[in-house]
Amino acid sequence: MTNKEIYIIVAVDCKNGIGKDNAMPWHFKKETQYFKEITLTTKDPSKKNMVIMGKNTWYSLPEKYRPLKDRKNVVLTRDKFLQIEGVEIYTSLDEAINSAGDDIETIFVIGGATLFKESLIHENLTGIYVTFIENEYECDTYFPEIPSKFSNKQLLKEEEEDGVKFKFMLWK
Ligand SMILES: NC(=O)c1ccc[n+]([C@@H]2O[C@H](COP(=O)([O-])OP(=O)(O)OC[C@H]3O[C@@H](n4cnc5c(N)ncnc54)[C@H](OP(=O)(O)O)[C@@H]3O)[C@@H](O)[C@H]2O)c1
Repeated sequence: MTNKEIYIIVAVDCKNGIGKDNAMPWHFKKETQYFKEITLTTKDPSKKNMVIMGKNTWYSLPEKYRPLKDRKNVVLTRDKFLQIEGVEIYTSLDEAINSAGDDIETIFVIGGATLFKESLIHENLTGIYVTFIENEYECDTYFPEIPSKFSNKQLLKEEEEDGVKFKFMLWK
């Protein structure tokens, strides 16, 4: 198993909603910017980070933004025949994690609900970057309960956009 740090990164509304009709229920520039900053930043400039996502999340990304730039993009599916240009495809989370070589610094699980559920109970999960959006949206997909072992809750920053407040937190 890898010795790299593995984080979930997610944005939730006040009812833990994360998605609607295989898309994001909200659009905030500051939230998108934060996601980019966290998933792109490396301490070692010669390395990059890996983003792992479920197949639905891949297709939910606007075509012009995928694969996500300057990160190793990994998509999970049980479909052994799926091929996507510029992306590595694996059929299990551990297979994806174990594919991270020396060029990868940190692994981020970026969604969606199916993959979050499995990752939250993964023994090697280091922490969870959660953006709490203080508003309610119509959602059909929800973030599972965070296991109680993640008890160290750090507020990294607070922002506001279009009259909506959000809190960027790291749970470890
Ligand atoms: N708010 C946020 O931060 C955030 C972030 C990401 C996504 N989202 C939202 O979440 C929703 C999508 O979530 P979702 O639960 O429907 O889909 P998902 O987790 O993105 O994708 C589910 C699919 O991925 C594959 N998969 C997942 N885990 C796997 C595993 N361990 N091994 C092999 N294959 C695996 C399976 O594909 P096959 O069926 O092909 O086997 C599964 O059907 C969208 O609305 C999206 O916008 C929100």
